[in-house]
Amino acid sequence: MSVATAVAHPNIALAKYWGKRAGKGNYPAVPSLSVTLAGLSTTTTVRFDAALDADRLVLGGTAVAGEPLARAAALLDRVRASTAGRVSERAEIVTANDFPTASGLASSASGFAALALAAVRAAGVDASLDRVSDLARRSSASAARSVLGGFVELDAGPLDDPSGESRLAARVVAPSDHLDVRVLVCVVTEEAKTVGSTIGMVETAAASPYYASWLDEAPRLFARARAALLARDLEALGEATEKSAFAMHAAALAAGVVYWRPATLVALDAVRALRRSGVGAWATIDAGPHVKVLVAAADAARAAAELGRVTGVLRVIEARPGEGARLA
Ligand code: DP6
Repeated sequence: MSVATAVAHPNIALAKYWGKRAGKGNYPAVPSLSVTLAGLSTTTTVRFDAALDADRLVLGGTAVAGEPLARAAALLDRVRASTAGRVSERAEIVTANDFPTASGLASSASGFAALALAAVRAAGVDASLDRVSDLARRSSASAARSVLGGFVELDAGPLDDPSGESRLAARVVAPSDHLDVRVLVCVVTEEAKTVGSTIGMVETAAASPYYASWLDEAPRLFARARAALLARDLEALGEATEKSAFAMHAAALAAGVVYWRPATLVALDAVRALRRSGVGAWATIDAGPHVKVLVAAADAARAAAELGRVTGVLRVIEARPGEGARLA
């Protein structure tokens, strides 16, 4: 029996990944840039055990079957396949988030990052960050970025790999203390999202008249965000961040993929009001209704107080840049 436990944090994309390369391998169609968050964690234990006759997934104390188990088992299959027959046992995965999944804080990102690290360690195979990030990406591309800490980039996938075998791992662009910022997560509903990101991007690619424009624009917005980050220019980073989110959602909306709720627009309006009142604050939105706001650390308390008063904002979670996945 071999066992390992890992901890990972969610990340928020400043320049969004939305859309996949055709073919196998779960390669993103565009590059993305994110910040890994501290203070919110997923802890995952993987135990390979000859006494088990099937893989098992226990999420927050409850055994889970169906699609979540199938996705986790696919990762375990990849790890088992890399042991040259040494590890063939089924495994139990016990995982828990210390933040509510409905907060839209990308539990798949922290979940697959922690699972990938715990699984390679428990199986005793190559546990380099490159390998772990590539493994996590194959389950959920944003998870590749949660393997690393601070400000992290993930390239678009290769154009010429129909087999899906090439390695694509995230890289650190700058450490967590590079820019003194906070992300304020404005939670606007406690309900789980209706359309997951995997389906949402497939529908966008299939039906949005603006998908080609998104594929064209996203790398430019990524380059702007990356250059602004390296220059420690928060205003330019905030502008590129907001543009990336709006461009992604514009493409999705045109396919009828609507993640926004009325409170999403109210919160977006409040972010603009903050800017008019002189507080640098920029919004981003993932595949869900919540609004995440990038601010300087010095402005976080005031911005959080104002956003917390907005009708429809249920609560505001303040997060700072944090570290990558690690063994517990
Ligand atoms: C809007 O990584 O969840 O959060 O690879 O299909 O699992 P899959 O998608 P996922 O998509 C994340 C989309 C996003 C933007 C981002 O994190 O870059």
